[in-house]
Amino acid sequence: MKRVLSGVQPTGDVHLGNYLGAFRGWVQEQSNCEALYCIVDLHALTVDYDPKELAERTLDMATYLIACGLDPQRCSIFVQSQVPQHTYLAWILECNASMGELSRMTQFKDKGKGNDSVKVGLFTYPVLMAADILIYNADLVPVGDDQRQHLELARNIAMRFNSKYGATFTVPQAQVPPLGARVMDLQDPTKKMSKSSSSPQGIILLSDDPATIDKKIKRAVTDNDSLVNYDPEHKPGISNLLELFSSASGQSIEQIQQNYTSYGPLKSDTAQAVIEMIAPIQERYNELVKDRKSVLDCLASGAEHATSIAGATIDQVASAIGLIRPDYI
Ligand code: TYM
Repeated sequence: MKRVLSGVQPTGDVHLGNYLGAFRGWVQEQSNCEALYCIVDLHALTVDYDPKELAERTLDMATYLIACGLDPQRCSIFVQSQVPQHTYLAWILECNASMGELSRMTQFKDKGKGNDSVKVGLFTYPVLMAADILIYNADLVPVGDDQRQHLELARNIAMRFNSKYGATFTVPQAQVPPLGARVMDLQDPTKKMSKSSSSPQGIILLSDDPATIDKKIKRAVTDNDSLVNYDPEHKPGISNLLELFSSASGQSIEQIQQNYTSYGPLKSDTAQAVIEMIAPIQERYNELVKDRKSVLDCLASGAEHATSIAGATIDQVASAIGLIRPDYI
């Protein structure tokens, strides 16, 4: 059985991009693979954050993951900081990665390059992400399009390590969904929908009520030629709505294009489809928040299982690179 691993930062609210680009695929894979899903709280330390909120956000993210359909009986959901082997391996991998390749990471270039006060952790973040994946010898990593470059780095580090120290890591493969891999901001459809977006009107949160979702989609920036055509390069706003509608309703983009000749009805029906897709998630979330202790317990058993795999990998890696172990003689 293949092993699948993916992760999400516990920063801010969960948005439609996270769901369509990642979580929906995670739910599918828990039935086909041995699945591990990690809330990467150590990654959240790379930028300024409020310590009073981090634990709460981590628990809230776990609650959302279960509400989205992850079943703790079928997959392991755990918190990165509760499996210290991730950072142990990250150090070893840092000693096998170069400044040059990390400097080329576009997310670092966008967020911090040239800024002297940027955290070292933000620079080395992709190596910690590689460790998150390689420590479980994951075959598949379901992610949105924005994580492709990080996945490529993880693959390169794994191959380099294997050729230097002998076959140790599985070389992972990114699994990017055919639809919803890059959900765009509703107010600036040339940018991806993101927690750090400048306008809250551009993001649909899984916690938004139906009226808010309707308003945000109706106000989505489009263009003024009124043609319902899928053309991401020239018509990013309409193409984004078509992708959202298709992802939420299951209808193909061609079918939707044929059914609509103006933007108003397209926007109304897209909003309705998104509202209907999110409603059961919100219902489950509202139930789960009443029993946060059981969510916390899931994280504890997830971490226990993850630690057993991660510990075995560390033993193998340590021996491969020449660290002395208690059973050396
Ligand atoms: P993060 O927390 O930013 O996002 C979690 C997942 O959501 C996807 N995503 C999107 N997909 C489509 N459209 C969007 N607008 C959109 N925004 C976010 C992301 O691609 C991601 O799959 N570095 C990772 C977390 C991470 C990780 C890992 C992932 C740490 N270690 C190991 C996989 C494996 C991140 O910041 O994701």
